[in-house]
Amino acid sequence: MLAHVGIFDSGIGGLTVVRALHERERTLPIRYLADTAFFPYGGRDPAEVRARALTLGHSLVDQGCTVLVVACNTASSAALDQLRAELPVPVIGIEPPLKPAAEQSRSGRVLVLATEGTVAGERLAELEANHARDVTVQMVPMPGLADLVELGEASGDRVHSQLAEAVTGPVALGADAVALGCTHYGFVAQTLRGLLPEGVTVIDAADAVARRTVDVIRERDLTIGAGDPLPVVYEVTGDVALFDQAMACLRESGEALPPMVDARKSGLMAGGTR
Ligand code: DGL
Repeated sequence: MLAHVGIFDSGIGGLTVVRALHERERTLPIRYLADTAFFPYGGRDPAEVRARALTLGHSLVDQGCTVLVVACNTASSAALDQLRAELPVPVIGIEPPLKPAAEQSRSGRVLVLATEGTVAGERLAELEANHARDVTVQMVPMPGLADLVELGEASGDRVHSQLAEAVTGPVALGADAVALGCTHYGFVAQTLRGLLPEGVTVIDAADAVARRTVDVIRERDLTIGAGDPLPVVYEVTGDVALFDQAMACLRESGEALPPMVDARKSGLMAGGTR
């Protein structure tokens, strides 16, 4: 069977995962679903995010996807178990890279930046209990940061000041590893690095998820064709023109994105659940 990867997020953030996967496997068919009609997920009730994630997951499988990647920490936190239980395809989620942050920290103090939903979720508490017991973990919810990225802002005063406010205190206390716990934040990693003193590492999980996805494709004996690189097919549940504008802004600010085609309304309207 052919590998056909469906990837979703609340908006543009999941493109950090799409980009990492496309860089690894340029001939892999990828379908990206940006649920901008329901953006942001971060402050929503987990049950609501779960229902939405199930709707999107089913939709991607119905469209022929043979692997599902949840390129959203908030949705993975709220819905990964249910997606795995309900869908007939392998499901790969994403979580804040707290484990590598704890391993790489020399000071024993790490910082996690994530949405309110991810910070409050049980999955992150479990991750901390299982993999970060020997370090001090400071989790900082960043309401509003994903909203700026969703507009295509990867730098600029607003992004700068939100990040500076989040990291200044923890870094002064000795934090030397920052885990990015929201896929949108991959697009502000450069700005963040510019704010941090030498020796403080920024860790993004996008590439690890891409690597895991390719491993799962191989483990399941799914085939990736040869030939010319394929563009990513994408759908947006909200305003396609706004999404395109944000992608253009990100490209202009130097973010590499794969070729993308076929933006069109997906038919999953705001509030729709299965
Ligand atoms: N990109 C999503 C994540 O990784 C969150 C953005 C939102 O709040 O919708 O958590």
